[in-house]
Amino acid sequence: MRIVENRKELHAYLAQARADKKQIGFVPTMGALHKGHVSLVTRSATENDECVVSVFVNPTQFNDKNDLSSYPRTLEQDCALLEAAGCTLVFAPSEEEMYPEVDTRVFDLGPVAQVMEGARRPGHFNGVAQVVSKLFELVTPTNAYFGEKDFQQVAIIREMTKQLKFDVNIISCAIVRETDGLALSSRNTRLTAEQRHKAPVIAATLNESLQLKETKSVQEVIDFVISTLNNVDEMEVEYYEIVDGISMQPIKAWSDSTYCVGCITVYCGKVRLIDNITYTRD
Ligand code: PAF
Repeated sequence: MRIVENRKELHAYLAQARADKKQIGFVPTMGALHKGHVSLVTRSATENDECVVSVFVNPTQFNDKNDLSSYPRTLEQDCALLEAAGCTLVFAPSEEEMYPEVDTRVFDLGPVAQVMEGARRPGHFNGVAQVVSKLFELVTPTNAYFGEKDFQQVAIIREMTKQLKFDVNIISCAIVRETDGLALSSRNTRLTAEQRHKAPVIAATLNESLQLKETKSVQEVIDFVISTLNNVDEMEVEYYEIVDGISMQPIKAWSDSTYCVGCITVYCGKVRLIDNITYTRD
């Protein structure tokens, strides 16, 4: 596995790979890797000749500067995991390398960006679109892999890819969970032992709500999820929305969409956790 820190070396490596007609798989990450990332890398390594992984904590997508400075940076550990998972090239640029000039681009990503995370984290998805579009330009992957835990992010990437006409397949991969159901996230390490013990209630409640779908309205299911979780000490739901899985727009009735997905953000103490569940998919 090669580790490169600048565009020039990345370009040289990939030029050779392209000349050798190799198919390039790409997994963008911000490091602090866990089994969820590893599953993306394993899939990318299996489905492509080259498996490129970027490790870059992107400042433009953080709307909270404390969150940016406290974000874990564990490159050495990450590289060990990446090598074991079949990654062939790690791109770990500095901030200056990624942004030699300030990126002033403002994306108009339309309705998919205006709800849920987009409505609550101003600038976040614009920053994601900035960095992922730069990375796509540099890596020119055939296939790019994203985790479905960040469900809305996948829709954002698809929209940006369409608008900028990148010739890349966006492949979304199922959430990886701990054995007790908690969705894997770099943020889980910030939970206290007690909070970690309680956190699986999020996935358990979403699962329980699947059964209610047969007899309850969309609003009743939303109310059930919010009230169940808000009754757990230290938990506070920021939002629970049931949306169309493509447009991200909230639905009012189950018949409004053939792909109904519930997306949740919950504070567990000070830690903001997200998860989602699919109710229907044709
Ligand atoms: O999901 C993430 O880790 C980040 O948003 C991404 C896609 C690597 C862009 O910085």
